[in-house]
Amino acid sequence: HVADAHRTDLMTITRHVLNEQSKHPESKGDFTILLSHIVLGCKFLCSAVNKAGLAKLIGLAGETNVQGEEQKKLDVLSNEVFVKALMSSGRTCILVSEEEEEATFVDPSLRGKYCVVFDPLDGSSNIDCGVGVGTIFGVYMAKDKDNVSLEDVLQSGKNMLAAGYCMYGSSCTLVLSTGNGVNGFTLDPSIGEFILTHPNIKIPKKGKIYSINEGNAKNWDTPTAKFVEKCKFPKDGSSPKSLRYVGSMVADVHRTLLYGGIFLYPADKKSPNGKLRVLYEVFPMSFLMEQAGGQAFTGKQQALDMVPTNIHQRSPVFLGSYDDVEEIKALYDAEE
Ligand code: AHG
Ligand code: MN
Ligand code: MN
Ligand code: MN
Repeated sequence: HVADAHRTDLMTITRHVLNEQSKHPESKGDFTILLSHIVLGCKFLCSAVNKAGLAKLIGLAGETNVQGEEQKKLDVLSNEVFVKALMSSGRTCILVSEEEEEATFVDPSLRGKYCVVFDPLDGSSNIDCGVGVGTIFGVYMAKDKDNVSLEDVLQSGKNMLAAGYCMYGSSCTLVLSTGNGVNGFTLDPSIGEFILTHPNIKIPKKGKIYSINEGNAKNWDTPTAKFVEKCKFPKDGSSPKSLRYVGSMVADVHRTLLYGGIFLYPADKKSPNGKLRVLYEVFPMSFLMEQAGGQAFTGKQQALDMVPTNIHQRSPVFLGSYDDVEEIKALYDAEE
């Protein structure tokens, strides 16, 4: 039983990754060192988010970011923490953050072989009201760390080596895949370690929940409108689905991963490419969903098959239970 093992045989995230990496004889522990620095950023942010209200970290930072969003203090702070943690790991060569207009090329003296794309604080509009927020990250290998270019981060999602998110909610949960399935770890604040609590997560093949911002219904395209109609008024006599929408992608995806169902952020007339960013939101979450037995679709192709042409490119995304995504794919195919 996991709890007993927790007492004496601590399966920390570091140990778990070391076990996994031992399957790659060529690995020299670099990924484990990279991951430990990502984990450091998550631990810092977990404590900062939990005391945001007390430490006056809520509220606007007075800047706007490349997305045209007003930057909240925690957005700025979390970005700095992750950039510094990743640089100091000595294992990265390029960083792409939602909060930085340009990619960061790490100083050659500190350069390593990994490229990290990340959303340091996802769901930041929910900070001031205490609703779950998180961090999302993805890891690519640079082709040649001694002459890196944007091509090293403008890679297909199929080339991603690892992806994960950390959710700062009632507990601090880190969900990670390095390509051999998905595992969940919960921070034990008493020892400051992430302990394996959700081994080998698999998403239910079909779900009873759909997750979408119904406020955009006026602008939806036909396939999305038809799918949502079917969720609410099923023709086959089955019971309607439940709607659950937190408004933080990390929270909505984490619930979808554990309970099953489908998360949708479609294109609409206002935003023809939807809202979510390919590199550090769509790809990592699609990677995790596929590793957990689910799938992710853009309306045109499997999400991971995209090859982005700019680092903040957006894409529609439908991800979650395999069968649920198949239904939306059928509706888009019928449109062609
Ligand atoms: P971020 O806070 O990193 O900018 O991301 C916000 C995103 C994502 O977390 C969420 O799924 C989506 O915005 C919600 O958008 P709407 O408020 O338009 O539904
Ligand atoms: Mn943002
Ligand atoms: Mn986000
Ligand atoms: Mn963000």
